[in-house]
Formats: sequence, structure tokens, C-alpha cells
Amino acid sequence: MARFTVNGKSTQVDVDPNTPLLWVLREQVGLTGTKYGCGVAQCGACTVHIDGQAVRSCAMPVSAAEGKRITTIEGLAQGGVLNKVQQAWLDNDVPQCGYCQAGMIMAVTALLQEKPRPSDADIDASITNICRCGTFQQVREAIHAAAKA
Ligand code: FES
Ligand code: FES
Repeated sequence: MARFTVNGKSTQVDVDPNTPLLWVLREQVGLTGTKYGCGVAQCGACTVHIDGQAVRSCAMPVSAAEGKRITTIEGLAQGGVLNKVQQAWLDNDVPQCGYCQAGMIMAVTALLQEKPRPSDADIDASITNICRCGTFQQVREAIHAAAKA
């Protein structure tokens, strides 16, 4: 059994405590916007926020999320209004296939909460998500656009 809040909603799931949070979010909670890429905390496709911090949910047992506040890509927009990172992604045509992008947006949203005007060095240090489509330059431009929004 694990209890936590997902996108503002109290949630309880009956699973093995060692189950990765990613699979609980996708299979028990039904939020499939968070993606599986590598399963070993390398690619960032599975990034969600736990109490406002970006974490790679494939490598986190659900027991570690007990009592915490989880936000997924489905919870970023408020009242139908995209957050400034999502809007910058649209305005800058960032996604290609899109598979990595939910994780990118979650990582970038957490970065901007911590550093509202990140330098290129800050971006390089924080945004280590992998994009097989090579959108890295568009990601960088959209981060700077979101920072100015
Ligand atoms: S699926 Fe979690 S980091 Fe790649
Ligand atoms: S947009 Fe295709 S993997 Fe990043």
C-alpha cells in the first residue's frame, strides 16, 4: 500500500512497495504521459516532480513517494492554461517524435523554479535528458524563451 498526492488528488495504491513509481503512475493511476525510456535513471523520459523536485521515476520505488506531493506532465497546466515552459515548447516547435518531451518539460520546469534565468552552463548541468531526435538546440532556445516569459 502506498499513499501520495498526484496532481493535487489524494491517491492510494495497493502494490509491492518496491514497484518503480513510473509503473504505478502509468498502470495504477492511469497517467501515461510519463514515459519509459531506459529504466535506469539515464534518459529522463520518466521525470516527474516530487515535492517540486525533478526525479526520475523509473528508478524510485513507490515506497519512497509515501506521503509526498507528485506532479506529472498532466498536472502542469492550470485551469486549461499551459505553464510557460509548455507554451515556449509550442511557440518554438521543440518536439519531434515527442517521446522524450514530457520528461524534458518536467525537468525544465523544475530548473526554472530553482533558477528563473538559467545560463547555458546551468542548462547543460541540469538538463541531462536524452532526446533521440536531437532537439537539444530547440530545447535550449525554448528554455531561454520561457525564462523571459
Ligand atoms: S526511463 Fe527513467 S531515466 Fe530513462
Ligand atoms: S523528440 Fe523524439 S526523442 Fe526527443
